[in-house]
Amino acid sequence: MATRAHDVVTMEKIVALCKRRGFVFPSSEIYGGLASTYDYGHYGVLLKSNVKAAWWRAMVQERDDIVALDAAILMHPRTWEASGHLEGFTDPLVQCLGRCKKRWREDHIRAEEAVMAADEAPEADPGAVPREELRCPECGGELSEPRNFNLMFQTFIGPVQEDAARIFLRPETAQGIFVNFKNTLQFARKKPPFGIAQVGKSFRNEITPGNFLFRTREFEQMEMEFFVPPDEAENWFDYWLEERMNWYLDLGLRPDHVRLREHSADELSHYSSATSDVEYLFPIGWSELEGIANRGDFDLNQHARFSGEKMEYVDSGSGERFVPHVIEPAAGADRAALAFMVDAYDEEEVEGRSRTVLRLHPRLAPVKAAVLPLVNKDGQPELAREIYEELRALMAAEYDAGGSIGRRYRRQDEIGTPFGVTVDHQTLEDATVTLRDRDSLEQTRVPRAELAGELGRRLAAPWRSPKLG
Ligand code: GAP
Repeated sequence: MATRAHDVVTMEKIVALCKRRGFVFPSSEIYGGLASTYDYGHYGVLLKSNVKAAWWRAMVQERDDIVALDAAILMHPRTWEASGHLEGFTDPLVQCLGRCKKRWREDHIRAEEAVMAADEAPEADPGAVPREELRCPECGGELSEPRNFNLMFQTFIGPVQEDAARIFLRPETAQGIFVNFKNTLQFARKKPPFGIAQVGKSFRNEITPGNFLFRTREFEQMEMEFFVPPDEAENWFDYWLEERMNWYLDLGLRPDHVRLREHSADELSHYSSATSDVEYLFPIGWSELEGIANRGDFDLNQHARFSGEKMEYVDSGSGERFVPHVIEPAAGADRAALAFMVDAYDEEEVEGRSRTVLRLHPRLAPVKAAVLPLVNKDGQPELAREIYEELRALMAAEYDAGGSIGRRYRRQDEIGTPFGVTVDHQTLEDATVTLRDRDSLEQTRVPRAELAGELGRRLAAPWRSPKLG
């Protein structure tokens, strides 16, 4: 009988588990690490690849109206003039003039103040806190005047470091899609409504990165730009809100931990006429997982203006021409992986012993099945290895013969392996193995010849987080 401690997850526990099991660790750790930069180890790579694969599957494989793209990270610098990033992709930076000299985002300090002020006097207008009254959250010191700080990382193309050679690491993948709108129209033989999907690294010189993978300076985005006839934009916006919410729910996030939040007018980006965020209830509170924006015709018009190329759709039959409007679901692969781990993390008592288990959706689990000989002798390891080799042709599988069976189960539970296959003396006699379910802990005897089929069936079956009870 298992007893579960309810939602025991904290960010510290996730960080510790990621380090302990080699999912994620600080980058360049032997040099003391680089602030808020992380490297993914084996299980982390597999988990994040599964998140991205699930996204590609929903966006491209299961649809006829979206095509894939992989644009370069380095783009012509005019891109960022056209997109508005050169001028407007800034955060208001303030520095503590007191003891700690820390740098902060003024809007974050204001948001904190607003929460505190609303607790004390709900009717007050928090935006109205005069600047001179804002204080350093760390040491209470006075703050400098805010300065607009551009978040794009700069570098130079070629050997000469001069203004003419200045380029940027892309702060979003979206612009790679917009500049390829014409190419895609021509080669993919699509007409609006259709979309272009892309997954790749983006870079932002965030003033205050933090909360582990939640906000880093180098991260992966999964973005799709959906080009539609202008009068269909609002309907498609609503359609994508629902689709994207369902994607997270289908992959097992608990419904009471995911919500949609509409942006107020003063939160909207310069390009957006409507945005809603999919938010997840992280241990740090409700925070953005993905933004879904109605970008109108802003981007295509800007690139047309700056490049001199027409960025419109022309119907070859009717001759009708228009600049499509764009609906953009923009997600973060690292942030999604973090949310899936947080949602999956569980601790329970089983027969007087505690276990930590990642109850990941089987589709996301880094390893689907672990093959474990009960004892490391009597022909069991050889037979287990044979079974493992059969399985790994079909799914991500692992063979583990090291340590007591209890320790090996604990290791597999912590990396979220949904199925354990144990080979014991009976296997040698009647060719059956024990199949252990990570969540229910149920153990069933399965003929070896039926194992792959049984695992395939269980992996494909609908899955619901056991944390829902
Ligand atoms: N093209 C629109 C765009 O980039 P965004 O809301 O700035 O919109 C989309 O970013 C998603 O990218 C976010 O919802 C988040 O998941 C991820 N993301 C953004 N900045 C991030 C950061 N510093 N660290 C990790 N993920 C980030």
